[in-house]
Amino acid sequence: MISSPVIAIDGPSGSGKGTISALVAEKLGFNTLDSGALYRILALFCQKRGLDTAQIEEIAQYALDLDVRFSKGCIYLDNEDVTDRIRGEDVGAIASEIAVHPPIREALLQLQKSFAVAPGLVADGRDMATHVFTDAQLKIFLTASAEERAQRRHKQLISKGQGGSLRALVEDIKARDQRDIERETAPLRPAEDSILIDSTGMTIEEVVTQVVELWHRLSN
Ligand code: DC
Repeated sequence: MISSPVIAIDGPSGSGKGTISALVAEKLGFNTLDSGALYRILALFCQKRGLDTAQIEEIAQYALDLDVRFSKGCIYLDNEDVTDRIRGEDVGAIASEIAVHPPIREALLQLQKSFAVAPGLVADGRDMATHVFTDAQLKIFLTASAEERAQRRHKQLISKGQGGSLRALVEDIKARDQRDIERETAPLRPAEDSILIDSTGMTIEEVVTQVVELWHRLSN
């Protein structure tokens, strides 16, 4: 049983679940858990220590003692701000490699559950509703078309002064979706009791309002 209320928001890359989760948490005064950041932190650890991603037991052992803190939009590992470092493409690639191993997912399970404290939690990831917080009071599966997600990513890249072909981004996103859905461990899928929100053509504010309304409807 979960002691504090939890809103679980899962979805594919680029669905906006991180942004939506942070804004919903702000509106409700809830805590947040960016579960992808935990996999990224472990990836950073491997990179720093020069560990091979095949050294699963060592990585899982470290995961058990992870000293991580989320505060005001920043992520701290052993009190060091790693917010920007874990967002690199290199770290993301290692994260997706290690995330498929059950001992690593298992090691992060208790840590993820420990974020469910008063007054409540908004947790985002791939398996929040199906595995980590199966008792969550509200489960959302947030998606958007591959084309729209590619366009969002393209805009982000342009704002950072980077270019890239939109068509290549669409292909990239479709390939990653396929991998995430078909992988054996914790495949990306909605829970049976998840509410599907397709954010294609919706603004961030519209999605946030919908989630907050769903929450109020449930808790009244
Ligand atoms: O959402 P993200 O890109 O920050 O996630 C980083 C990696 O971690 C990504 O490859 C998927 C994986 N991940 C996972 O397997 N399960 C989660 N609950 C969250 C992320």
